[in-house]
Amino acid sequence: MSDRLEELEKRIEKLLERERSRRKVRDEDYFKVRQLAFDSRTVRALIKLFNKGVLDDLTWIVSAGKESLVLAGKGPAGELAVKIYRIYTTNFGKYLEYIIGDHRFPIVRDKDKIIPIWARKEFRNLKRLREVGVRVPRPVDVVGNVLVMEFIGSDGIPAPLLKDANLNDPVSYLDEILGQVKRSYVDADLVHGDLSEYNIMIWDDFPWIIDVSQAVVTAHPRSFSLLVRDLERVTSFFKKRYRIDVPDPYKLADELARTKEV
Ligand SMILES: Nc1ncnc2c1ncn2[C@@H]1O[C@H](COP(=O)(O)OP(=O)(O)OP(=O)(O)O)[C@@H](O)[C@H]1O
Ligand SMILES: [Mg+2]
Repeated sequence: MSDRLEELEKRIEKLLERERSRRKVRDEDYFKVRQLAFDSRTVRALIKLFNKGVLDDLTWIVSAGKESLVLAGKGPAGELAVKIYRIYTTNFGKYLEYIIGDHRFPIVRDKDKIIPIWARKEFRNLKRLREVGVRVPRPVDVVGNVLVMEFIGSDGIPAPLLKDANLNDPVSYLDEILGQVKRSYVDADLVHGDLSEYNIMIWDDFPWIIDVSQAVVTAHPRSFSLLVRDLERVTSFFKKRYRIDVPDPYKLADELARTKEV
């Protein structure tokens, strides 16, 4: 274990130094990554993933956000995205709200326990969405606060987000996204809950939906309002950016909700 630990620390250190020397990482991100990568829970989870043979290497820092750190890696399954969650105490209420009401998860009030549940929630949501054919990254494994999934992009460079992409045929992309929202709702019983141009990647001529940790089951008391908000954000993005006609989000949400009525 201690050999592994040293090896992992070296690997992360190398990754940080290399990225820093390329000036790809802002100081602020550098410290975020360091802090999280050397947090003992995270280190334990990463070592487990190396020992299980899921992960062979960490190659790149993809994103250092408020709530998660995403690294690129490699393993027998090919290029991987390694998402490491951290949850601030101040945000705790928000997380609870999405877990309470979802019968799949126990209700916990302990901050240390909620992080792994959150990671597992994203893993299960990804699995469920893929099973019904929604285009999301294939989930590979989850250990503690670390989720491993298929990498969307290549050579450690993530595909562009919808907000940064330049679409030639926005009408068909919007159609495709709305079709995925419908499939999620009708076939997987899930509402994304944070869908926007920030959580959709454009790759291989298709939209890919990411960041599904907060997705809730349709039986969740807030599922309808979250569905309306998801549809509103997506349609208004396309309307503003591409000036195309878009369907009415409320009507769409209503139509979907009706499919659940008996
Ligand atoms: N499977 C993936 N393949 C490639 N890149 C990914 C993948 N998943 C996430 N990313 C990249 O990492 C970024 C952050 O991921 P995600 O949206 O899942 O996390 P987040 O919780 O929103 O993070 P934040 O703390 O920034 O809000 C994405 O914008 C995307 O660029
Ligand atoms: Mg996101």
